[in-house]
Amino acid sequence: MKILVVGKGGREHALIRALAESPSAPVLYCFPGSDAIFERAHAVPVDGLHSLIEWMVAEKIDLCVAGEESYLVKDEGLANLCEQVGIPCWGPHKQSAQLEASKEFAKNFLERQAIPTGKAQVVDTFEDAMTAIGGEYPTVLKFDGLAAGKGVAVCPDETTAREFLEEVLVEKRFGTGRLLVEECLTGPEVSIFAAIVDEQYLIFTPARDYKRALDGDEGPNTGGMGAVASRNLISPELLEQIEKEIIQPTVRGLNAENLPYRGFLYFGLMLTPQGPKVIEYNCRFGDPECQAVMPLVSGDLAEFCLAGARGIVQPEAIQFSDGWSVGVILASAGYPETSRNDDVISGLADVDRARIYHAGTKRLSDGTWVTQGGRVLAIVATAETRIAAAALAHAEAAKITFPGSQRRSDIGIRNF
Ligand code: AMP
Ligand code: GLY
Repeated sequence: MKILVVGKGGREHALIRALAESPSAPVLYCFPGSDAIFERAHAVPVDGLHSLIEWMVAEKIDLCVAGEESYLVKDEGLANLCEQVGIPCWGPHKQSAQLEASKEFAKNFLERQAIPTGKAQVVDTFEDAMTAIGGEYPTVLKFDGLAAGKGVAVCPDETTAREFLEEVLVEKRFGTGRLLVEECLTGPEVSIFAAIVDEQYLIFTPARDYKRALDGDEGPNTGGMGAVASRNLISPELLEQIEKEIIQPTVRGLNAENLPYRGFLYFGLMLTPQGPKVIEYNCRFGDPECQAVMPLVSGDLAEFCLAGARGIVQPEAIQFSDGWSVGVILASAGYPETSRNDDVISGLADVDRARIYHAGTKRLSDGTWVTQGGRVLAIVATAETRIAAAALAHAEAAKITFPGSQRRSDIGIRNF
């Protein structure tokens, strides 16, 4: 079996390792990939979506796995183009990926399907936004488009709201687009992942992301500074409620609205005092949640994704372990505002009780690894208890050093 994975980050490194360890032993390719990924997958000599499709046809690729979202909504859409040439794709069609690409589309879908979510209004101008806020703080402002995780602001007061509105609607930092003014929800967050295959689905191990840069959930939002995953993260009763009130109506809605979906769907949920509510959908696995979840998955993920992309759910192909997984991110100097490249990374070879997933690294010709981006590495450990997994992940992460390295010390410990 030949599989192409699209993406280049820590999530794709984790997916590729899980696919590589599948008993069906697929031959792996990755685009655009990274030096660390190319230790397990072949690079692909193309420069864009259309040449990638031509290459897949020429190479007789059996399965395309969308790790990241951008190609799902680019041009005609990765999955749509794969379908045209008869290559199964694990990742949804362009029209379905609007659930992630447009917050307005997602909000309208949630409302039509009566799925619990925060109330919101969509606006175009600064003045309309201020009217929609109506003097009620905190308020949540969301740019309606892909903004690399930076398009959302939880504003405690009018000053911060005005600043964000100025940036987004006047200076157009993320380009043109509308804005959602959303009710501020409170409660712990949880990331639920389901493999969706038309009318069927399989729920993966629940996870929790740590989005803020600093200990104690302080500092700016980031792409995620760590994650914890376990079947015991939430109670079976709560998972059942989420399944009934959120996952099933989502799957029914996708089918009723002709939104073809075969791939991972990420439900970003807030566990509010009124019950779980959707804060976002993503049409892919989470990053860094994927790095925490994959070590708990065994069996044949490659076979599972291939069957799924062909329209068959094969729950028996994979198993989920008990226990806990904790993943700690090491980020480069300046992250999240900026990032610093070319800092030499030491200690990778000393890590022997955790997995290392590379997100932003480069290998020099002499074999030295250096930083290349904001989030650099995820160090992931598993154990029977959360506390043991967290202790292990932090102890192993401490073995790795590079100038300016940043790591939260409360991943897996806080928020329980
Ligand atoms: P998103 O990009 O939609 O995942 O939002 C990023 C983060 O903003 C979420 O993980 C939450 O922490 C926060 N957030 C988003 N929507 C809301 C909301 N309605 N109420 C409170 N916090 C929110
Ligand atoms: N961990 C958040 C995300 O993948 O969007």
